[in-house]
Amino acid sequence: MGPRLSILRKFLTVAFLGVAVNAVAQATHTNIASSCAGCHAAESKWQTDTPMGRAMQWPDVNPLFKTHPELTFRKGAYSYTVDTKDQPTYSVTDGTRTITLPIHWSFGKGAQTWVLEKDGQLLESMVSYYPSIDALEITTGDQELKPQNLDEAVGRKLRETEPKDCFGCHSTGSVLKGKLHLETIQPGVTCEHCHTGAASHMVAAVQGEGYGTAPPDLRKLTSEDISNFCGQCHRSWETVVRSTWRGEVDVRFQPFRLANSKCFDGTDPRISCIACHNPHQDLVRDDSSYDSKCLACHAAKNESASGAPQAVSHRDAKACTVASSNCVSCHMPKVKLPNGLVTFHDHEIRIVKPGAPYPD
Ligand code: HEC
Ligand code: HEC
Ligand code: HEC
Ligand code: HEC
Ligand code: HEC
Ligand code: HEC
Ligand code: HEC
Repeated sequence: MGPRLSILRKFLTVAFLGVAVNAVAQATHTNIASSCAGCHAAESKWQTDTPMGRAMQWPDVNPLFKTHPELTFRKGAYSYTVDTKDQPTYSVTDGTRTITLPIHWSFGKGAQTWVLEKDGQLLESMVSYYPSIDALEITTGDQELKPQNLDEAVGRKLRETEPKDCFGCHSTGSVLKGKLHLETIQPGVTCEHCHTGAASHMVAAVQGEGYGTAPPDLRKLTSEDISNFCGQCHRSWETVVRSTWRGEVDVRFQPFRLANSKCFDGTDPRISCIACHNPHQDLVRDDSSYDSKCLACHAAKNESASGAPQAVSHRDAKACTVASSNCVSCHMPKVKLPNGLVTFHDHEIRIVKPGAPYPD
């Protein structure tokens, strides 16, 4: 579509939407994404159903609860049941006493952990659901906990700033001026979480007040800045270094791993998170579809003409002597977390030597 046609289309959309101005202005957070769709169809089509869009889910729209009416698990003296037939509940029993709590906040689209409220305190459920085994297991990171009684067996009490952090990364509108506000929560990572000011831009756009308030264009950020932007939640290089997280657990922090790779240069757009990922769509799981991203640098002459981000030519690198496709299958190996339940792709792109230890 040419620019004039595109402006005309946007004008028509504004005129059409203008009828619904008041309704849109008052739109609740839950349907705001669909209000963006009128003008930004491509970004809005799948986003709400991606793992980020569903990073937190309400019980009535959680597909896991529809397909799994009852989940059970036993560890030592304690038996766990997640009953989702009516109002979903999480219960733990030691055989004599049972504690049952309603489930309000499900974290994760695939693997799921429940944040529970007990006596005014927020807890992370002791057990979580893992698609890799289609069953419950002890929550990642909680394997070492040794509950002394039924109350402790329910879950791990969240420390001081933890509730705000959990909800801040998995939902939108829950943290206002540094404080947790569960009443304004909108589940998942929504448009406004990444595009600050999008809601007022939408209202202005729909009311025909122009696009002067459009959110910043994130494509203009350098690779380094995008790593830090995604790293707000996926953890930045600095956060990982400061927290001294080491060993295989750090494979889940892509901005950190990528920065450690020889391929990374904070000024080269070809190695930005958004060169390989579209945050509005599901993760692409076909190895060969990443070949062009690698070849943008590793065989620059052939590829950069085909729409790859603009090259920083002094960083063009050698070609592979072993294979010419499916690069990531060898150079971004799959690494499991120590509990064996969740798998990541190592973003420290490298030559993998058989039997070599995980590079920290
Ligand atoms: C009535 C049409 C309309 C609606 C509704 C609308 N936008 Fe926009 N938006 C635009 C136009 C047109 C631009 C381009 C402005 C410019 O070129 O400066 C824009 C720009 C943007 C940009 C900056 C992109 C860039 O490349 O600079 C973002 C991000 C954005 N909108 C997000 C949203 C979100 C999120 C919503 C819903 C909350 C939304 N918009 C609702 C028309 C709309
Ligand atoms: C506000 C926090 C936040 C920001 C910012 C964020 N993410 Fe995420 N992202 C998450 C959470 C939480 C999940 C896990 C969702 C789940 O498992 O349900 C996730 C999941 C993903 C996934 C899906 C992984 C899978 O297993 O399918 C990809 C890909 C991803 N993010 C890429 C990005 C990129 C690229 C950026 C930067 C442009 C980014 N994210 C920014 C919070 C965020
Ligand atoms: C700094 C941001 C951040 C905080 C704080 C955070 N998460 Fe996440 N969470 C993510 C991101 C990003 C992902 C996706 C990548 C990954 O799995 O590491 C994720 C993934 C998950 C998953 C998917 C399964 C998994 O292990 O990959 C669950 C469940 C989850 N988080 C629950 C929680 C709970 C419960 C809390 C609080 C106790 C929490 N998260 C705190 C960012 C965060
Ligand atoms: C996880 C963060 C994240 C979320 C959530 C997100 N975006 Fe984006 N958006 C980005 C980034 C990063 C870019 C720049 C890279 C790109 O274009 O893919 C972008 C680009 C855009 C653009 C400009 C694209 C273009 O080609 O002009 C629009 C418009 C936009 N987003 C709208 C939306 C809408 C609407 C939603 C909600 C349905 C949304 N975004 C959700 C991170 C996000
Ligand atoms: C050169 C391409 C490339 C770049 C750059 C890149 N990724 Fe990835 N990413 C991949 C591939 C390939 C996968 C695995 C896809 C699959 O599941 O088959 C992946 C998977 C992921 C996942 C899912 C969990 C996992 O590790 O398997 C997340 C989240 C993610 N990337 C985030 C990021 C973030 C954040 C950045 C920027 C710091 C980034 N990626 C940069 C290629 C890339
Ligand atoms: C922004 C450009 C760029 C991109 C994109 C890129 N690389 Fe690289 N890569 C480099 C540079 C530069 C080096 C270092 C070359 C040197 O030191 O000789 C390198 C080094 C490597 C090495 C050797 C590492 C070692 O341990 O010696 C491998 C393997 C590699 N890249 C594979 C890949 C794969 C696979 C992809 C896609 C997933 C990719 N690269 C994407 C620029 C890039
Ligand atoms: C079957 C596994 C496999 C695949 C697929 C593969 N490579 Fe390699 N690659 C290797 C191995 C093994 C080496 C180390 C060879 C050696 O040491 O002689 C290597 C070496 C490299 C190097 C270092 C070259 C040098 O001379 O220093 C780069 C860069 C590289 N690969 C990039 C890529 C890219 C880009 C792709 C996809 C087009 C790719 N590889 C596909 C296994 C693979």
